[in-house]
Amino acid sequence: MHAHLHSFALIILLLSTFSVNSNATKGFSIDLVHRDSPLSPFYNSSMTHSERVQNAVLRSMSRANRFGQSSSMAETSELVETDIIPNDANYLMKISVGTPPVERLAIADTGSDLIWFQCSPCPQCYPQNEQLFDPKSSSTYASLSCGSEQCKSLPQFTVQGQSYPNCGTSNECMHFYSYGDGSHSMGELGTESLSFGQAASFPNKVFGCGHNNNLKVYQNTAGLVGLDQGRLSLVSQIGNVGRKFSYCLPPISQQQATSTKLRFGEEATISGNEVVSTPLIPRSDSPTYYYLNLEGITVGQQKVSLTSQSNGNIIIDSGTTLTLLPPSFYYQVEALVKQAVGADQFIVQINNYKLCYKNVNSIQNFPNFEVHFTGANLSLKPQNFFRMISNDVMCFAMLPTEGQPIYGNVAQINFEVEYDLDQKKVSFAPVDCTKQ
Ligand SMILES: *[C@@H]1O[C@H](CO)[C@@H](O)[C@H](O)[C@H]1NC(C)=O
Ligand SMILES: *[C@@H]1O[C@H](CO)[C@@H](O)[C@H](O)[C@H]1NC(C)=O
Repeated sequence: MHAHLHSFALIILLLSTFSVNSNATKGFSIDLVHRDSPLSPFYNSSMTHSERVQNAVLRSMSRANRFGQSSSMAETSELVETDIIPNDANYLMKISVGTPPVERLAIADTGSDLIWFQCSPCPQCYPQNEQLFDPKSSSTYASLSCGSEQCKSLPQFTVQGQSYPNCGTSNECMHFYSYGDGSHSMGELGTESLSFGQAASFPNKVFGCGHNNNLKVYQNTAGLVGLDQGRLSLVSQIGNVGRKFSYCLPPISQQQATSTKLRFGEEATISGNEVVSTPLIPRSDSPTYYYLNLEGITVGQQKVSLTSQSNGNIIIDSGTTLTLLPPSFYYQVEALVKQAVGADQFIVQINNYKLCYKNVNSIQNFPNFEVHFTGANLSLKPQNFFRMISNDVMCFAMLPTEGQPIYGNVAQINFEVEYDLDQKKVSFAPVDCTKQ
């Protein structure tokens, strides 16, 4: 896709209800549903639980490798675009487009900015379940000219000798936005009303009306909603209400479809005396990502410190499943976990996971596990650092990576997580997300 955009954090969000006092200028909420939940259109009922868990490992790994490339290339070249792959969706989002509004299911990606949908006519669209969005049937659609500011904030890209953004036959802005796996959207940049139920509606938001699209991974979605800090993202376009958002990820349950909220604006504020905050670190090499400083991890009573603790050494990502750590740091943490759990006779090897135990019910010792971000210590529960991958096998939910370290979503389960872009901080509070 595009030079300075990296899709690392894909969330798919599914809208269902809004809070009673939703108000577009103050705040609103959207329900989130995990992609492996039976409520999700991606739910594959013939997949076993361990297949799902195994898939999560593969998704996390491919994302980290992509990051590694992008961070090393970011300083030197325009080719960072090859590292953008929107393939790690975990949650689903519904968003309404146009007037009258039509509801669409889209990937929400905290690692890119452009909002786009497949639009008719579409000579080259990937298949989707819902009807294509037809700008002609919306009274609020307007195209943007190629001289517009919005058009100029698109990433530049050359495809088959043609540079993008460029001017169409009526001076309209033609966009090309691509992702590292070859996914892309090409079409016309326009403005349109975006809404979330009755209460939250945003007129004249920039979006790409894609007439030639390819989304390799999640073919049934109608498009993608960018949530990073770039100029064209949903977060950046909805004004003050977008400067703060929060979510609360419940434990994944295949039995029941738990949903939870993605909140914006005042509704996103988390409170209570257990709230801790850590600075969001701006990085000029990739200013749109959400970087934090990880200082170390304590297992039991022993603390392992990271050698490089400043300048944003880890990305927080609700779209990556596992937590990925620098190798030498990871292996020290893993050794402490292994020592604390004991039960060496139950260790089994499961594909990509590094540390797994069988006969889980006979394991007694789960160590104290504390994550130290600058200014914020998080006490993790066993469900945040072990995943059940079958009835009696569990694996350590962290892995080493040579690429970009990522604080993934298993570690965030049953925490409220608030992103405050004005105060440049991320806050956490331990809660039961199924009761939110
Ligand atoms: C669902 O999972 C089964 C078992 O892994 C697999 O064979 C099948 O291709 C999957 N179906 C889809 C639509 O992904
Ligand atoms: C976090 O934990 C570390 C090590 O246990 C401690 O030294 C530090 O004071 C704690 N920081 C906060 C903000 O509680």
